[in-house]
Amino acid sequence: MRLASIVSGLSAISGVLATAIEPEDFNVTNALQNLGVDVTKIPALASGIQSRSIELGCSTACSSLAFLFGSKVSTHNSTGYNSFTGSFWSVQQEEVQPHCVFRPSVNTEVSTAVLISRLTGCQFAARSGGHAAFTGASSSPGGISIWLKDMNEVTLNEDKSVASVGPGNNWLSVYSALEPYGLATIGGRASSIGVGGFILGGGISYHSNLYGWACDNVESFEVVTASGLILTVSEKLYPELYWALRGGGNNFGLVTKYNLFTIPAPQMYGGARIFQETEFPDVINAWINVINNATVDGHAQQYVAFLQSSGMKLGTAELTYTKNESDPEIFKQFRSIPAISDTSSSKSLVEYVKYLETENPSGHREVYWPISVQLNEEFSNWALDTFFAMVPQVADVAGVQPVIIYQGITEPMLKNMANHGGNALGLDASKGPVHLMHIACWWSDESDDDVVYAFVNSFWEKVIAHAKSTGVFNEYIYMNYASMFQDPIAGYGNSNKALLKKIAKEFDPKQVYQNLQPGYFKLDGAPVTGDF
Ligand SMILES: Cc1cc2nc3c(=O)[nH]c(=O)nc-3n(C[C@H](O)[C@H](O)[C@H](O)COP(=O)(O)OP(=O)(O)OC[C@H]3O[C@@H](n4cnc5c(N)ncnc54)[C@H](O)[C@@H]3O)c2cc1C
Ligand SMILES: *[C@@H]1O[C@H](CO)[C@@H](O)[C@H](O)[C@H]1NC(C)=O
Ligand SMILES: *[C@@H]1O[C@H](CO)[C@@H](O)[C@H](O)[C@H]1NC(C)=O
Ligand SMILES: *[C@@H]1O[C@H](CO)[C@@H](O)[C@H](O)[C@H]1NC(C)=O
Ligand SMILES: *[C@@H]1O[C@H](CO)[C@@H](O)[C@H](O)[C@H]1NC(C)=O
Repeated sequence: MRLASIVSGLSAISGVLATAIEPEDFNVTNALQNLGVDVTKIPALASGIQSRSIELGCSTACSSLAFLFGSKVSTHNSTGYNSFTGSFWSVQQEEVQPHCVFRPSVNTEVSTAVLISRLTGCQFAARSGGHAAFTGASSSPGGISIWLKDMNEVTLNEDKSVASVGPGNNWLSVYSALEPYGLATIGGRASSIGVGGFILGGGISYHSNLYGWACDNVESFEVVTASGLILTVSEKLYPELYWALRGGGNNFGLVTKYNLFTIPAPQMYGGARIFQETEFPDVINAWINVINNATVDGHAQQYVAFLQSSGMKLGTAELTYTKNESDPEIFKQFRSIPAISDTSSSKSLVEYVKYLETENPSGHREVYWPISVQLNEEFSNWALDTFFAMVPQVADVAGVQPVIIYQGITEPMLKNMANHGGNALGLDASKGPVHLMHIACWWSDESDDDVVYAFVNSFWEKVIAHAKSTGVFNEYIYMNYASMFQDPIAGYGNSNKALLKKIAKEFDPKQVYQNLQPGYFKLDGAPVTGDF
């Protein structure tokens, strides 16, 4: 219903809108001039910009940015460059060599970088926390990597209902800044996850059963368009773009500020409870009951992870309560299952995300790869058995650790997705809770990449076939966990995909964010076609 109103609204304003955002005779040089950048004064651009190669284009782009912004631009082998390439979560992203790294500190510098990219044809990528795992997702091979790290403000509006958060923050810096005020936002569960990618793909928080996902709790976005304009985008201002940014990823602009609704900072209670194989069916039963009970008590958050370590199968339930209560009703069943260890304790939100960070170390080759199905106990048990039956296939891979993780997209989460005009994810609350399952796997050597990818792919082929034949398959793919072989936008459904493409055309008629920023999930297809 709401979607229909967005569609009709869009066609009503489309001509006017497109002209205002980027007229047909848009001139990049003049747009730069409006930002105070006179391209005739830039030595690298003095000889003109015709018929350049990509390499030359990027050399020109980086020299121009360095001329304009000095030490905010760094190139190969410098300390600034190495601190960028050396600080991603996955090794695959660390291996990427951009032509230069640009660290803007204000929104107009981001506009300038996008326009310089257009002028020179040099590609770019933007990075917030750098937690996307695959090559080129937030660093541009041979191009401009825009590191948003220095745009790290966290400020409150007068009545403290909205926190303005720069995309250079991670969730630890956001929660730490707000804690003295007794406040928090709907954000990530581990400290180093970036604000930037997390919100644009969805964002599952400890508070999501109470308030919804992170993308459903944004008062407004400040966005740099392909034409270098800086727009404030909310439910009232550019509502179609607001809808698109709630799940559409990096396809519509670079977000230079996230204005997030605040919530009271919680004193929490939780930790990991570890179980042996004999308890797995009971663990899955308890996990399902907690998902269904989200309608009764929204303070609980959980995921369960299963893995094989030194020949032993283990299950971990991360059980989090957003109040300082050690034994709430909703987790009683879990606590009655015998555990070999339990790290639960009272923690502030800041302490919680620091603790969870230690469970997810950086510095490995990594893949995250999700699918989704309708919540179903028999299927959950079957998929787990199938996982353990297939794990021996990668036993010889050096340093390998495959894990399967189960989470629930609960009814209250789904209902909150309809707030503020809805989001782009295409999830239907009327079908009941969704089982979000993903494989997370790390390993050591590049020479094993294909073996690992083929293993995960063959596992999911089997699971998807069974899900389809038993009627539980859900085409939704969570962008924030998706592998480079997947197409999350297609998983949002045909009508949402078509609408996202239409909105992208309105706000970015030359498709700059599709073509000059090719990394991560575009509107048309997976980043990489798998050859398994
Ligand atoms: C250890 C770990 C824990 C996690 N925990 C959770 C969790 O609790 N809940 C959950 O939902 N997900 C979780 N995730 C997944 C996480 O949400 C994604 O990895 C997400 O993409 C991370 O955002 P980032 O800013 O750090 O990533 P980046 O790699 O910096 O960005 C990801 C993509 O978003 C784009 N982007 C970033 N900033 C902007 C911007 N300002 N404007 C436009 N585009 C931008 C980038 O260009 C890139 O394409 C976790 C991941 C890891 C590795
Ligand atoms: C853009 O404007 C500048 C001067 O303002 C002009 O020299 C240039 O030719 C224009 N570019 C295009 C593509 O029209
Ligand atoms: C960076 O330094 C290494 C080692 O000193 C050198 O081999 C390499 O050529 C340098 N790369 C560039 C682009 O300067
Ligand atoms: C949490 O609850 C426990 C038990 O009731 C109490 O001892 C402790 O002081 C509480 N912690 C905080 C920070 O409120
Ligand atoms: C949760 O679910 C179980 C099983 O359906 C039920 O027995 C229990 O009372 C529920 N309520 C709460 C608050 O957890």
